[in-house]
Formats: sequence, C-alpha cells, structure tokens
Amino acid sequence: MANPLRSGDPRLPSVPPPCAVVIFGATGDLASRKLIPALYNLHVRRLLPTGTVIVGLGRRDLGGDAGFAAEMRAKCEEHSRTPVTDADWQSFAVLLRFLAGDFNDPALYTTLRGRLEAEHTTSGNALYYLSVPPSAFPTIVEQLAAHDLSQDTDDRFSRVIIEKPFGRDLASAQELNRVVNHAFDEDQVFRIDHYLGKESVQNILVMRFANGIFEPIWNRNFVDHVQITVSEAIGVESRGRFYEEAGALRDIVQNHMLQVLSFVAMEPPTSFEAGAVRAERGKLLHAVRPLQPQDVVRGQYAAGYADGEAVPGYREETDVSPTSEVETCVAARLSIDNWRWADTPFYLRTGKRLPKRVTEVAIQFKRVPHLPFSYAASEQLEANTLVMRIQPDEGIALRFGAKVPAPRVVIRNVQMDFEYDTSFQEAPAEAYETLLLDAMRGDATNFPREDAVDASWRIVEGVLDAWRLDGGATHLYESGTWGPEAADQLLANDGRRWRRP
Ligand code: BG6
Repeated sequence: MANPLRSGDPRLPSVPPPCAVVIFGATGDLASRKLIPALYNLHVRRLLPTGTVIVGLGRRDLGGDAGFAAEMRAKCEEHSRTPVTDADWQSFAVLLRFLAGDFNDPALYTTLRGRLEAEHTTSGNALYYLSVPPSAFPTIVEQLAAHDLSQDTDDRFSRVIIEKPFGRDLASAQELNRVVNHAFDEDQVFRIDHYLGKESVQNILVMRFANGIFEPIWNRNFVDHVQITVSEAIGVESRGRFYEEAGALRDIVQNHMLQVLSFVAMEPPTSFEAGAVRAERGKLLHAVRPLQPQDVVRGQYAAGYADGEAVPGYREETDVSPTSEVETCVAARLSIDNWRWADTPFYLRTGKRLPKRVTEVAIQFKRVPHLPFSYAASEQLEANTLVMRIQPDEGIALRFGAKVPAPRVVIRNVQMDFEYDTSFQEAPAEAYETLLLDAMRGDATNFPREDAVDASWRIVEGVLDAWRLDGGATHLYESGTWGPEAADQLLANDGRRWRRP
C-alpha cells in the first residue's frame, strides 16, 4: 500500500491488511494511556482495517476479554483525544481479547498461538508490540521465535514493535539487536520513537523539501545556531524507579531529541521511500560529534512550584534515592561535522518541572551584515527566527523586524504564524495512531533503523561514561524555572542565550 505522503494525496489514507495487534504489557501505563486509546481513535476514524483484533497480554488476570474491555474503556475515557461514545465503544470492544500470564512461561506462547490461529479475520498477520520493561524484550522475542510466531511468509506477515529505551548504551543496544535479529529479519522490526509519529515533526521534512524558499538558507552561511527544546511541566510522576535507571539524557536526548535533530539537519533524500529517508537520517547522526562532558549540563529539580502548587524535589519523589544524582534536565551544545553545518552550534535543552510543556525547534538566522538604521530605531530588533512548534499549538512562526507605524523609523519584532488548527480545522492525530498504522502497513519510514540507534548511543556514550565514573556535577534548579544557571552559562560562553518559548 502506498504511503499517502508519497502518493501525494493526504485525503486518501491507505488501509493496511487486517492483523492481530498483540500487546505485551497491555495493562501497563503506556498501553492504557496511549496504545489502546490510539487504536480506539483509529477505529473511530475508520482507519483500522476490518478484521483487526487486539490481543492484550498482561500478568494480572482481569477477568478475560470482558474484564479487559471494561478496564480499557475506563482508560480510554480518561485518555482518548476524542470522547468515547457507546456506539463506537461497542463496535471497538468486540475486537479486544485478553490473555493473562507470565512472559517467561512458554505455555503462554502456546496459548497465544492457539488464539491467533483461531482468529479467522486476520489472515494470520500479527503485529507484536513490546510495551514492557527492556529487561523483558529478549525473552519475549526468543519465545515468539521458539513458538513459530516470528515467521514472515509470502501470504502473512509477522512484525515486532519495540519500545524505547532500545538498550541503555551502545553495547546493550547492539546485544539487543543481535537477539532481535536472530528471531526477526530487519524489515520485520520497528523500533519506535513516538516523536517521529508527530505530525509537526513529520512536517519538518515537508517544510524543508516541498518549499523552495527554506533550503537555500538552511546552512552555516545563513543560520547562526539552532535551539531544540523539549520542556515538560510534569515531574517524574509514578516513574521514579524507571527514571533512576534512565535520566533525561537516556530518556529524551538519546532518542527523541536526536531524531528531531536528524529531521532538522539531514540532507534531502532522493525520494520519500523508507530506505532513502532513513539513510539520510542515519548519515546525519553519524556526522554528529560525540558529546564531551564539558558540552553538557546536568540538572535536577529541587522543590518549587508547578501551576501555582508547591511540588517536591526529585529526591523526595517515590522510588527515588534521597541522594540521587540522576539528571531531570539536560542542556547540551552539539556540533555537526559536515559541509552544511560546520561551526553552527545546535543547542539542546530538555527537562522536567520546567515552567511549561513545550517542544520547539528554533532556527536562529544570522543578523544582517550592516544595519542602516540608527541604534535608537532598531535597538529591540532581534535576529530572524523560524520557530517550528512541535507541541502544543502545533505550527510554524517566522519572526522578523517591521516598521512601527509612526512618522519616524522605529523597528519592532513581529511574527507570521501558521497554525495547524486554523489552517486544517482539526487537531493533528496522536503520534501512536500514525505509527501503529505505519507498522500495520509495513512502512518503516518513521522508525529509526539499527544504524541510527547505534549512532545516537555513540553521541551520548562519552558523557554517560563520565557521569558513571565521577558522578558529574548535578546542578539543582527550582521546580518551575528554566533549569540551572549552568545551562544559561553554556550559551553565555558562546555569546548567546536561550529563547523563552
Ligand atoms: C517519553 C518519556 O518517551 O516521552 C517521558 O519516557 C516523556 O519521560 C514523554 O514524558 C514525552 O512525550 P510527549 O509526547 O508528551 O512529549
């Protein structure tokens, strides 16, 4: 089936063949907050192929298919982006199945195989979603292979979606690849990074490569620097245990931010074929200079305020060590060693308990070589900036100077704005909807390939090692502020400062 981006007609979504979507960890946080609501919304949008079934697997016995459906309805009511209606839910609930069991127990896979064989509408197609802690990935993959569930044949497909984090460093990512590739061929494997499913991230490529005006200035000659911000107002919530193992560098920078960076900085692909796009993204990540500890600031939130409420510091959160040095905020200065970007810094900043939830990419252009206006007229003039708002309020804004209507020359910054909501009259779909549909279709364009995952671990590995060996200085910042002062200093050292999104 053609990818609508490629076929050029976005009004014609291609419907994949039906399959069984098998979710390992179906009662977990991700599945109940994101995956099941995404499948429900695909169903409501009539994009889920007729004949699809959804098989949840979890440790907890929920009382069979009906118990699972009841629990998932409650979750969808809480998390679905469109309201749950009785009619849509009833037609969706009949697709849901549930199997309780231990993922280490071979008997579970025998039962699963029987269940899948008894489904007559899926033509034997299966899409396995590993929504489980990384330690469970190898066992599940091995058991699927041992029970003949990983075979792709001419008339049925078998694919696996693997959630992040894909490994915890380069060596473990490579080891995981070895295990996965033993059971599945590379074209059956979909390593998911949900940022690549966001419409506003995918639009970066459309904006760059479908328009003639941006690409000629998209390089070191015109761009002063780039800032990528992924800011969250929430703390670690109930994920203290996970976060103590991960930290912001592994949780956000190594995957989401480096993938967004690859969209912003990659060379034009020759086509929108998965191979061509993934090759360019991989090439770009290979050109990124591995980060050095002095290029990275490590911050951790202390007590403060969020939405006017007093909130505890990271070290007071549940399942977090009171002496933890784990970072909840990272600011980094990154260089790309190629012709397009040599000497153009890319500044990355992410954190929890920052003032608001906002993800954006800001391309800051160079100033004009000579300003013919007086200092008084132009003192507030900023350099031109193109801001791609990834979320919320998805859109693109261009800031430039304009003459204030007055009998003398006074220049102020103004903004030209494109907003998805107003231009297309609808909010973009959730990333998981897009990516689940892509995987059902077998379109890997928006999934990182093995080489890209390896390259991104290479970029952060030196810093992870340094922090592991000497702890690294963790700078505390008050909750509700834009991170530690050291993050400001990182840019100040280059004569620059962070934008206030
Ligand atoms: C996840 C991280 O991958 O992305 C979370 O594990 C983070 O810590 C989340 O909150 C952010 O996703 P989004 O789509 O809300 O920006």
